[in-house]
Amino acid sequence: SSDELHERIVAARAALGERVVILGHFYQRDEVVQHADFVGDSFQLANAAKTRPGAEAIIFCGVHFMAETADILTRPDQAVILPNLAAGCSMADMADIDSVTECWEDLADLYGTEPDADGRVPVVPVTYMNSSAALKAFCGEHGGIVCTSSNAESVLEWAFERGQRVLFFPDQHLGRNTAKAMGVPLERMPMWNPRRPLGGNDEQTLLDAQVLLWHGFCSVHRRFTVDQIDRARADHPGARVIVHPECPMAVVDAADEAGSTDYIRKAIAAATEPTTFAIGTEVNMVNRLAAEFPQHTIFCLDPVICPCSTMYRIHPGYLAWVLEGLVRGELLNRITVPDDVAENARVALERMLAMKP
Ligand code: 13P
Ligand code: SF4
Repeated sequence: SSDELHERIVAARAALGERVVILGHFYQRDEVVQHADFVGDSFQLANAAKTRPGAEAIIFCGVHFMAETADILTRPDQAVILPNLAAGCSMADMADIDSVTECWEDLADLYGTEPDADGRVPVVPVTYMNSSAALKAFCGEHGGIVCTSSNAESVLEWAFERGQRVLFFPDQHLGRNTAKAMGVPLERMPMWNPRRPLGGNDEQTLLDAQVLLWHGFCSVHRRFTVDQIDRARADHPGARVIVHPECPMAVVDAADEAGSTDYIRKAIAAATEPTTFAIGTEVNMVNRLAAEFPQHTIFCLDPVICPCSTMYRIHPGYLAWVLEGLVRGELLNRITVPDDVAENARVALERMLAMKP
């Protein structure tokens, strides 16, 4: 039963003490979040992993790319554990290293590899945190950087200073929404389709491009629609509509604000008057916010319950299982990134962590 699981988790934690730290993403279910030492967005969790030098084991209640990132940023004697190895991210899977490398080679044919008179290289690769370690390593190796949804604009600024263009993967929406907010015209952000020659573009479009967008998307956030926003506004006049920048552009444009999961949380926490918030992000997080801030009316824009199915795979049963493994001295479900990949990926991650959000 769930009470029994709860007790098992509490008992194993007590036996392990300070040797273990549990990190939980905002999208995790309540039965998991309640055991986390730290709950946050993907940027905060990357920092949290790094700043717990005492922990021998970091149990990452999130998805695979987050656990990989934690492994890259922590010492080799610290084990990162993903309670269920099937907790991946469909968006991260949409950009694989082979397709990105092929794209990179095509771009080198088109743009050359020499910097311009201002010393700006032809292309700077930028990967969203939601990507494999191999892609982060690719960015580290090729003068690029990682971004999260809470710092995408500062990262793009960094990249525009160093390059004539940016290749942004895997999330087309975060790339488009961020670049648009920075004033990049839509016609200068073509999308790259790896299955078509020139990514499905004509050569002139690519020569004029400022941001090349990969074709990835989040299956949770792409469900939000302008219709839902219209309906929310009709039913709740004066509602504040806040959506995650992984939502399609039309949805971000129709919302009042767009921001990362932490941005959404802070916006609600900062509201002094009772307010209605219509939120476009994962439902577990929205429901938790609604419970935490009862003075406000908070609901998810999508009336069909839509959790992130892979985040949801971190069932408390798996958390109990990996914790009890540690009590017995067994490291179950350890995530390790090979040294050569980790080294380059760390370069790209440290570039991001060195910046102001
Ligand atoms: P943030 O935690 O950066 O807001 O990202 C949301 C998300 O989709 C994580 O997978
Ligand atoms: Fe991936 Fe979307 Fe789930 Fe985040 S919410 S882990 S981007 S599928």
